[in-house]
Amino acid sequence: MNKVSVRQARAKAMIGEVVRIQGWVRTRRDSKGGFSFLEINDGTCLGNLQVIADADLPNYEDEVKKLSAGCSVTIEGEIKESGGKQETEILAARVEVLGWADPDSFPLQKKRHSFEKLREWAHLRPRTNAFGAVARVRNQICKSIHDFFQEEGFLYVHTPVITASDCEGAGEMFRVTTLDMDQLPRRDGRVDFTQDFFDRPSYLTVSGQLEAEIYATALGKVYTFGPTFRAENSNTSRHLSEFWMIEPEMAFHDLDDNMSLAEQFLKRIFADVLAHCSEDMEFFAQRIEKTAISRLEAIAGSQFVRLSYTEAVERLIASGEKFEFPVSWGHDLQSEHERFLTEKEFDCPVILSDYPCTIKPFYMRVNDDEKTVRAMDVLVPGVGEIIGGSQREERLEVLETRMRDQDLVPEDYWWYLDLRRFGTVPHAGFGLGLERVVQFVTGMANIRDVIPFPRTPGNAEF
Ligand code: 4AD
Ligand code: MG
Repeated sequence: MNKVSVRQARAKAMIGEVVRIQGWVRTRRDSKGGFSFLEINDGTCLGNLQVIADADLPNYEDEVKKLSAGCSVTIEGEIKESGGKQETEILAARVEVLGWADPDSFPLQKKRHSFEKLREWAHLRPRTNAFGAVARVRNQICKSIHDFFQEEGFLYVHTPVITASDCEGAGEMFRVTTLDMDQLPRRDGRVDFTQDFFDRPSYLTVSGQLEAEIYATALGKVYTFGPTFRAENSNTSRHLSEFWMIEPEMAFHDLDDNMSLAEQFLKRIFADVLAHCSEDMEFFAQRIEKTAISRLEAIAGSQFVRLSYTEAVERLIASGEKFEFPVSWGHDLQSEHERFLTEKEFDCPVILSDYPCTIKPFYMRVNDDEKTVRAMDVLVPGVGEIIGGSQREERLEVLETRMRDQDLVPEDYWWYLDLRRFGTVPHAGFGLGLERVVQFVTGMANIRDVIPFPRTPGNAEF
């Protein structure tokens, strides 16, 4: 007998086949006519498979009639055409109970729980419709990311999780150490990190970019896709302390090439999700965000707006909108400003570029005006920034000056500077926050609900 998934068993072509399915009971309903309906889900799709369990099954009274949400079962039987909403159902010849779930203590009963409540049950929430759908869409997005870059001739490189350098220069790094916290070795009144595991202060990476640049300036087009860590104490619906980032890096590319790649890349992800996750996306459109599908469809046929930071500031000031934080040239845009631009001013994805050099990291290429850098941020409705990137500074002297301006010691980055000493080339890249794109696609309001095990200040239990 063939074992098939619920997803397979729901296809009309399966009618007449005798199969085995395995999954978890969502509901049980007993009919007066002496049989029961079970709804079974195995995570392969949003929808359940309906099982007809007849009273003449040998374990009908003792087991089938005691099944409740959360129990795990094996069902064998013939797939029949269904009279209900679904195409198919299965007429059980055998129902085997693998694991019981006490209805008095299993938390996921019929009642719908809030996403906040479900965060306390990170070990059980993937068994709900919403978290199952998020997991499948997240998986599709990851597949599209690899498919896109592989088809475009990019090489997947693995950059280290443990590093000694702060790529973003924001000092938001988690320290990695094996020193005894109760007895720290000291020299000249300071902690002596030469006695630490790596003989120097080391941290969890905030970005794989600097190492990706090493590979791009040897192999041309590369991308990284891995976990990144930020010890930033922000409790917002868009920040995680541990998140996944995709970072393409391309030799012989400038900022315009970078913007075009980012746009093409995002459109590919959206098109793939629409093509391959339609059932899950309908769920998001019905339950979470009305425009979940229509806005992705609209983006496919549109062009992202491109505008400079300076123009954006002018438009924000001219809008007359009351913002909590005032807008002025030289200050970073707040999320309310970004959302105003992408949601109200343009109502589509927006790529902002050429930010003031004082608010951007050392590695971004300085423009001829010497006041701005070749930076770009991609903003989308509902989320704000999902991509940050730039053309990189390829001129050795300019880069060294920028480092000193930002209180970095150029000698600490000697290997990074070597890329400019030996065969330097114009190059560019960006970082896409995986969870931000999953948030945008699904319409989920809180970033904690689009990663299986969210790490935020004060939260690391599961
Ligand atoms: O703008 P960021 O800080 O850029 C970089 O790290 C560059 N080194 C990338 C590059 O050019 N290779 O981060 C890139 C993206 C942001 O646009 C955002 O989507 C996401 O990473 N991100 C976060 N996502 C969740 N939680 C956080 N705390 C995030 N910080 C950044
Ligand atoms: Mg950024």
